[in-house]
Amino acid sequence: MGRESWTSQRIALRRHPDGRVSPTDFAVEDQPIPQPGDGEFLVRILAVSVDPMLRIFIDPAPMAGAMPPMPVGSTVPGAAVGEIVETRHSDFAIGDIVEGRFGWQHFALSNGAGVNRVDARLGAPENALAIGGLPGFTAYAGLEVADLKPGQTILVSGAAGAVGSAVGALVKARGIRAVGIAGGEEKRRYLLDNGYDAVADRLAPDFKEQLAQALPQGANVYFDNVGGPMLADILPVMAPGGLILVCGLMAGYQGDEQTGRDNLPALLRAIMFKGLRIQAFSQYGKDALRPAFDDEVAELVGSGKVKPQLHIEQGLERLPHALAGLFERSVPGKVVVRVAEPSDAVPTKIFEESE
Ligand SMILES: NC(=O)c1ccc[n+]([C@@H]2O[C@H](COP(=O)([O-])OP(=O)(O)OC[C@H]3O[C@@H](n4cnc5c(N)ncnc54)[C@H](OP(=O)(O)O)[C@@H]3O)[C@@H](O)[C@H]2O)c1
Repeated sequence: MGRESWTSQRIALRRHPDGRVSPTDFAVEDQPIPQPGDGEFLVRILAVSVDPMLRIFIDPAPMAGAMPPMPVGSTVPGAAVGEIVETRHSDFAIGDIVEGRFGWQHFALSNGAGVNRVDARLGAPENALAIGGLPGFTAYAGLEVADLKPGQTILVSGAAGAVGSAVGALVKARGIRAVGIAGGEEKRRYLLDNGYDAVADRLAPDFKEQLAQALPQGANVYFDNVGGPMLADILPVMAPGGLILVCGLMAGYQGDEQTGRDNLPALLRAIMFKGLRIQAFSQYGKDALRPAFDDEVAELVGSGKVKPQLHIEQGLERLPHALAGLFERSVPGKVVVRVAEPSDAVPTKIFEESE
């Protein structure tokens, strides 16, 4: 297999979403396969990550106007894994499996900046987009800030999602008690099978009672992946001196905070009377933690103690649907879209392991 037999397309931003993201906000376009120059290599992308944070970057006024809008026509950015098929870079060889921000396309050129070689212990390449990549590293960086002690309990919203699944896996390995919040019975069962000690169903009428039952001593840390109105139900189950750790505000990324109520007075009361702390964190800029994270996760996955959870869709053109789906009908685990099968340079069996 070579250039002549490969399809080369990209997904471009057709317009900035107006409220809810729609597949019609994107266009699939053909493009030529680029040629690597000196010091560059060509990546044939195998699987692309689908991340809720992307909704912020394609907004007409990202971060309330703090960032310039992404130009219409740009290739949609995002993390991906791929195989190197051509190289003029002395450190990267044909057949290397790499992870980087290669975007929503079949081929990407790179000079190696920000590119990680995928650890073979992770097994399937797309595992480097789940617990072995950005979601796992986000969980890891958040847990560093959380600084949980043995005997303490962490409560996690969006627990069945990519970051939440990784939090569950990492805390289980560390002997911390974890309570997850998820929507629906399927996700509740999934979480109980994947590291969580108890689960509260945010869609159930007795959600607050489920939280209270799961947290008799309260939550020492609330790892919040979603924000939104649910905070009002969490405050009563926070333990004195607890930490609200803001990882993401997914419930508000489409512009609709869906609150209809102002949680601020209740939050301030809880800060005052329970001594709660509230803090946001970002995995961005935490590169110093990366080697320890890579080792811990590769060992956990390689030894079979943790099984990466993925929801895999097929075909580059599915990416816009998969992004919209994160907000409409989320599924357990990390959502990735497989956009190509590996060429002969990569043994196909490493893909089968993730099925
Ligand atoms: N701080 C950082 O450095 C960093 C890095 C990466 C990602 N993030 C953020 O981390 C969060 C999780 O990312 P992810 O990749 O794990 O996303 P994901 O895989 O899409 O999972 C998110 C989960 O959130 C829940 N959810 C979605 N909409 C919700 C709503 N309106 N109210 C309550 N729950 C809702 C869903 O679960 P249920 O329906 O089952 O509840 C879903 O499984 C996002 O906010 C993302 O932006 C932060």
